[in-house]
Amino acid sequence: AGIISTLILSASAYSAEMTVGFSQIGSESGWRAAETSVAKSEAQKRGITLKIADAQQKQENQIKAIRSFIAQGVDAIFIAPVVQTGWDPVLQEAKEAEIPVFLLDRNITVKDDALFMTGVAADSVHEGAVAAQWLIKQQDGKACNVVELQGTVGASVALDRKKGFLDTVAAVPTIKIIRTQSGDFTRSKGKEVMESFIKAENNGKNICAVYAHNDDMAIGAIQAIKEAGLKPGTDIKIISIDGVPDIFKAMMAGEANASVELTPNMAGPAFDALLAYKKDGTQPPKLIKTESILFEPESAQAQLELKKDMGY
Ligand code: AHR
Repeated sequence: AGIISTLILSASAYSAEMTVGFSQIGSESGWRAAETSVAKSEAQKRGITLKIADAQQKQENQIKAIRSFIAQGVDAIFIAPVVQTGWDPVLQEAKEAEIPVFLLDRNITVKDDALFMTGVAADSVHEGAVAAQWLIKQQDGKACNVVELQGTVGASVALDRKKGFLDTVAAVPTIKIIRTQSGDFTRSKGKEVMESFIKAENNGKNICAVYAHNDDMAIGAIQAIKEAGLKPGTDIKIISIDGVPDIFKAMMAGEANASVELTPNMAGPAFDALLAYKKDGTQPPKLIKTESILFEPESAQAQLELKKDMGY
């Protein structure tokens, strides 16, 4: 009778009894805060209990949280991995405990891909390429010195966004990356690094564009540019990634030029893949890819409204 009642459980009946442990990176950006709040509401919609552990940007805290989720015997573990490497031992422990692991928004490199079930993420190399193509089109043959604000050192999204941009502008010798440094995906570090770029580049006059790996660093850079007496969006073009409300507000003020959107709904598709797996063993694809759409000031107002409706 036990087996029969298990078989007739619907996906929602499963979800009502399911607990997922989510090892979140922290709250370094507006996008990250939105991802956390969307994860909570997506769990609630499906009747799933979601336990979130904030790692405050440290991999060691994530590893501790994952071990604690294993000890608690959760039904699945979601991880937004702060860096790309160093996950093999703890994921092996999850595998031995037969707890499926889902990656959200960043990738990892492990010896055996069977250590995780799937990842929900954008193609970050493509995001960088989309940003570069926008700049190439804007410049239309005119020279441009670009400064790059990289994300967290060792994060897959920082490595890939850098690669996508660099590989694309490599074909256009008039566009050069003259300075590049990590701003750790935060507004304050983005501002600090931009201030140093401005100082080193003739009070910003040698800089044509900022390519920031996320909107928060771009917003920090905008502040630094204004404080240096220059006009962001005009004297120095601003292109970044995420599509958070604040970048659309900056576009409406004429201070930012374009952003490649990354949806904060990474958990929804992961919950669906988990439910399908628990229901009848359906194996999801190794990557559940999200879209990367570029937005410019013309659509900023509409995007802002849309984000409000999402509770962003
Ligand atoms: O991994 C996604 C990135 O992490 C977002 O682009 C950034 O804002 C966040 O911190």
